Amino acid sequence: MDILGKHGVIERNATLLLTLSLVVVCIGGIVEVAPLFYFQNTIEKVEGMRPYTPLELAGRDIYIREGCYTCHSQMIRPFRDETERYGHYSLAAESMYDHPFQWGSKRTGPDLARVGGRYSDEWHVEHLSNPQALVPESIMPRYAYLSDTPLDTRNVTASLKANAAVGVPYGEDAIANAERDLEAQATPDADTSGLRARYNNVQAEDFDGNPKRITEMDALVAYLQMLGTLVDFTTYDAEANYR
Ligand code: HEC
Repeated sequence: MDILGKHGVIERNATLLLTLSLVVVCIGGIVEVAPLFYFQNTIEKVEGMRPYTPLELAGRDIYIREGCYTCHSQMIRPFRDETERYGHYSLAAESMYDHPFQWGSKRTGPDLARVGGRYSDEWHVEHLSNPQALVPESIMPRYAYLSDTPLDTRNVTASLKANAAVGVPYGEDAIANAERDLEAQATPDADTSGLRARYNNVQAEDFDGNPKRITEMDALVAYLQMLGTLVDFTTYDAEANYR
C-alpha cells in the first residue's frame, strides 16, 4: 500500500490523527527544548560588555520613567537598511544587563541602540530641552525640566543591589561605592580612578553644562552617550562562537 493511501486511513480516524499529531508535536518539542538544559547560557559572551555605572543606571531609570521607549526602540535588526543607518545589528549580549530590556516595539523616533557618541553632550541637552529648536518638524516632547531637577541619589545603592539580585555582576565593591561613583562620573576634575577600575570604557564629565550640581539631565545624557559604545566592532568576530 502506498504512503498516500495510509494517510487516508489517518485522516478518516479522528482519534488516530490526534494521537499521531501529539507524537509529532512531542518530538518537535523535545528537539527544541532538550538542548537548552545543557547550555550554561544562551547569550554569547562579548568582550567589552559591562554593567551600567550608577549614573548611567539612574539615567536609564529616567528614560523608563519618561516613557522614551514608547517612541524609541533599542534594537537594530540584521537588515541592510537598518545596519546602514544605525550601525552593527544589536547583539543579545548588549542587553544582557537590562532589567527590563528596552528593545521597544515602536519607532516614532529613530532607534537609539547606538546613539552613544553620535552627538555632543550639548546637542543632547539642547535637543532634549527643545527638540524643535534643532529639528523643526520633530514631534518629540520637551524635557527641559530635567536640567532643573536635581538627581535623587538616595536609591542608587538599592538599585545596584536589586540588579545584582537578578544576576547583574555588581560586586560588593561596586555596591559600597555606588554613590561615590555616581558623583565622580558627573563632576569635572573628580577622582575617577575607583570608577574606572570598576567599569571599563567610562565617559566621565559634566554632561548637562552645569558643573555645580548633578541633575536628571546629567544622568540621562550619560546613559544616552554610552548606548551601543561598549562592544568594539572593529575587532568583534561574529563567527567566533560557531567555530
Ligand atoms: C512622542 C514620541 C517621542 C518621545 C516620547 C521621545 N522621542 Fe526622542 N525622538 C522622537 C522623534 C520623532 C525624533 C526625530 C526628530 C528629532 O530628532 O527630534 C526623536 C529623536 C531623538 C533623538 C535623536 C536620535 C538620532 O539618532 O538623531 C534622541 C537622542 C532622542 N529622541 C531621545 C529621546 C529621549 C531620551 C526621550 C525620553 C526622555 C525621547 N526621545 C522621547 C520622538 C520621541
